[in-house]
Order: sequence, then C-alpha cells, then structure tokens
Amino acid sequence: MRVDWRHRDLRDGDPSRRGPRRARSANLTEVGHLVTPQARAARNGHTGAVIWMTGLSGAGKSTLAMHLEQRLFDKGLQVYVLDGDNVRKGVNADLGFAPEDRMENIRRVGEIAALIADAGLIAIAAFISPYQADRDRARKASGAAFHEVYVKADLETCERRDPKGLYRRARAGDIPEFTGITAPYTPPAQPELIVDTAQKSIDACVDELVVYVQRHIQG
Ligand code: ADX
Repeated sequence: MRVDWRHRDLRDGDPSRRGPRRARSANLTEVGHLVTPQARAARNGHTGAVIWMTGLSGAGKSTLAMHLEQRLFDKGLQVYVLDGDNVRKGVNADLGFAPEDRMENIRRVGEIAALIADAGLIAIAAFISPYQADRDRARKASGAAFHEVYVKADLETCERRDPKGLYRRARAGDIPEFTGITAPYTPPAQPELIVDTAQKSIDACVDELVVYVQRHIQG
C-alpha cells in the first residue's frame, strides 16, 4: 500500500517538534550479513563513512562534494556523491520544499547514505538540510560513521554568487520557501568540520576535506 505521509498530523513547521516517522510494517525479522564490516574494510582499504555537507544554497556544497569525490577516487577510495538536485530528480521526485518535504528528503537520504556506508563505501551527501533535528536523525542512521561538515558562507556571499539565479527569483517572489530568504537555515551546533568558502578558495577547502578524511576515515 502506498502511504501518503503528507497527511500526517504536523503540529507546526518546526521539525524538532515532529516525531520520527512511524514504521508501518510489522512482522519483520532482520537478516544478518555473512560479509563482515572488517572484511569490507580490508578489501577497500578504508571503513565506510558518511560525509554530510550542510549549508545554504550557493555555499559550495556540490562543488566541494564533486571535487572531494574526484580526489578520493583518484587515491583509490570507494566513494559516491548524493546531491540534493540529483536525488530530487529520482528517488525524491515526489518531494517539494515545505518543512515536512525537506524532513522526508533528509530522512530518506540519511537512510540511503547509511546503507552506502554499511556497504563499505564513503557517501558524500550534499544537501541544504536546514534543520538540526533532521541532520541529527541522519547521524543516528549512520552512528559513528557520520561526519557533519558545515559548508559555511554567509547569505550575502551566497546571494552575490547566485550560481543558479535562484536567489534573484526568490527575491522577486517566484520561488516560495527559499532557504535563507523565506525559509530558515540553522547552522550545525557541533559539526566535525567547518569549511569556510567565503574566506577560502575551493582548492583550499577541498584540501581541508581530504586531510580530514585521511585523519578520520582511512585509518
Ligand atoms: S533540502 O532543504 O531539502 O536539504 P536540497 O539540498 O535537497 O534541499 O535541495 C536544494 C536545491 O534545490 C538547491 O540547491 C536549489 O537548486 C533547489 N531549490 C529549489 N527550490 C528551492 C527552495 N525553495 N529552497 C532551497 N533550494 C531550492
């Protein structure tokens, strides 16, 4: 049966006040893998992980994610980028930008990233993910494998860049609920890493990310 989750009772737009999505399937028995995480790590040369990049539109998440993917791939790591604009064309094509849609977007992607990490790969997730509660839920799905990266750039900088022309359209009233303009963004409270794209070049930020991965994931 297809569940239309949009009809759930949402008390308000604040996701921290929304409960976790209820499981609707019963009578499930989890099946254990015979291939161990250690065996996967031994083959890949690194453990599975999730590098979760959050930040405003135009902060540089996708650019950094793709450059990081290329750099890690060239070093022989198993790595794959999940990007908001791409995922929203496929598995999340049914979702818009209302708070509950963003929550469901991040819930699904958090679970997908956790599966990728469980398979022994490094998932780089590039999503605005504006709510701390939703990011915390994504962290919970991956446990210790989760690394939150704040791709930091102030609104003024992002608006000046406006790589997709969306800020201009949002200011003109053409795009409702646009993050930073008519929808909120809450920076991470305690990210594992901050990369400041307003102050540093893309290359310098990618270098910082590669160093972080070498220190915290490869070993
Ligand atoms: S999230 O808030 O649910 O995490 P996500 O990262 O998947 O967002 O998608 C953001 C991308 O969707 C932006 O980079 C932008 O290209 C596009 N977009 C379209 N409408 C909006 C909107 N109202 N707010 C923010 N981004 C939007």
